[in-house]
Amino acid sequence: MKSVDVAILGVSGTLGQEYVKLLSRHPFFRIRSVTGYTTVGKTLREVLEEDVPESIGDLEIQPTQPKKVDADIVFSPLPNDVARKTEEEFAEAGFTVVTDASPHRMDPDIPLIIPEVNPEQLSLLESQKKRGWDGVIVATPNCTAVGVAITLKPLEPFGIKSVVATTMQALSGAGYPGVPSLDITDNLIPYISGEEEKVASETNKILGRQAQPIHFAVTATRVPVIDGHTVSMHVELEENVSPEDVEEEMSNFNGRPQELRLPTAPEKPIILLRHTNRPQPRLDRNAGSVPGMSVSVGRIRRGLSDRSVQYVHVSNNVIRGGAGGAILTAELMVAEGFV
Ligand SMILES: NC(=O)c1ccc[n+]([C@@H]2O[C@H](COP(=O)([O-])OP(=O)(O)OC[C@H]3O[C@@H](n4cnc5c(N)ncnc54)[C@H](OP(=O)(O)O)[C@@H]3O)[C@@H](O)[C@H]2O)c1
Repeated sequence: MKSVDVAILGVSGTLGQEYVKLLSRHPFFRIRSVTGYTTVGKTLREVLEEDVPESIGDLEIQPTQPKKVDADIVFSPLPNDVARKTEEEFAEAGFTVVTDASPHRMDPDIPLIIPEVNPEQLSLLESQKKRGWDGVIVATPNCTAVGVAITLKPLEPFGIKSVVATTMQALSGAGYPGVPSLDITDNLIPYISGEEEKVASETNKILGRQAQPIHFAVTATRVPVIDGHTVSMHVELEENVSPEDVEEEMSNFNGRPQELRLPTAPEKPIILLRHTNRPQPRLDRNAGSVPGMSVSVGRIRRGLSDRSVQYVHVSNNVIRGGAGGAILTAELMVAEGFV
């Protein structure tokens, strides 16, 4: 495949650094431009914490402006307060923007994509033409909603009515430097601003359930784990279901990225774990054929009635819920002719 030039906006951040790791060994995406704010003028080698590949170490961090960027696809892990305006400037200037930030996610003409779950939502790009941009914006979901939506998708044949979920979210989900150490050491925080609403509204958009929403009761908590969001789920369904039915649907689940054999597609989007003490973030956040891209599910058991099921899942917030999910989305867009 012909190589495709990409840029990373906000390259020094938690997700920006993950993009560098994943893209520097990518078979057809080439990092051409990187941008920042306080780090402008420095080289990638000066700024990044981990070893930077020789070929891109001298790349200089540019101001986050379209005229400073040379690329076909722009990955945007920008802070939410600057993302809306900046991403629109890039789309107007003709770039294909794939964003991890939240401001555009719920706009009706912006696809909110998990490639295995709702690739058909890319057809919304047609309606973006009304905005008069030469480029487009595609959003990836909130890092917690990603694991929730991937594990709910195989349950659709049973009719999903409602979900009670408690999240145990990693520190890296709050970016750098994130939660003060004295607040989180020997502790957990039982609230994350805006997160509970995002899990509910974004999952309904991803699953095409905005007209007949799945009812959510979410409690979002922050825990002293570095990477990997754990979620305890209780799902109420329309039909009777056994834990074995759920296991079968989840273990057989795959989608368009697996059919197309995209480079960042894991062989199994969901990995089932049978030990009663799994999944655990430290052991399972990098599970699977493409580390960090599979969601690990365990403790599948009957819920409050024959029409409900409980389980626990772990998903990697910086890879599947961040840079890896966005790269897989961009690979799908290239393969399907959207770029
Ligand atoms: N962390 C996760 O697990 C995760 C997962 C999914 C989605 N997200 C979303 O992804 C985005 C980035 O998250 P993060 O955790 O990577 O954040 P972060 O660690 O705080 O990094 C922010 C980056 O944005 C740059 N930046 C700050 N202000 C800017 C401005 N005015 N103009 C241009 N660049 C600016 C910073 O550059 P300088 O260093 O040069 O100032 C830095 O590179 C957020 O919207 C977040 O909600 C995060």
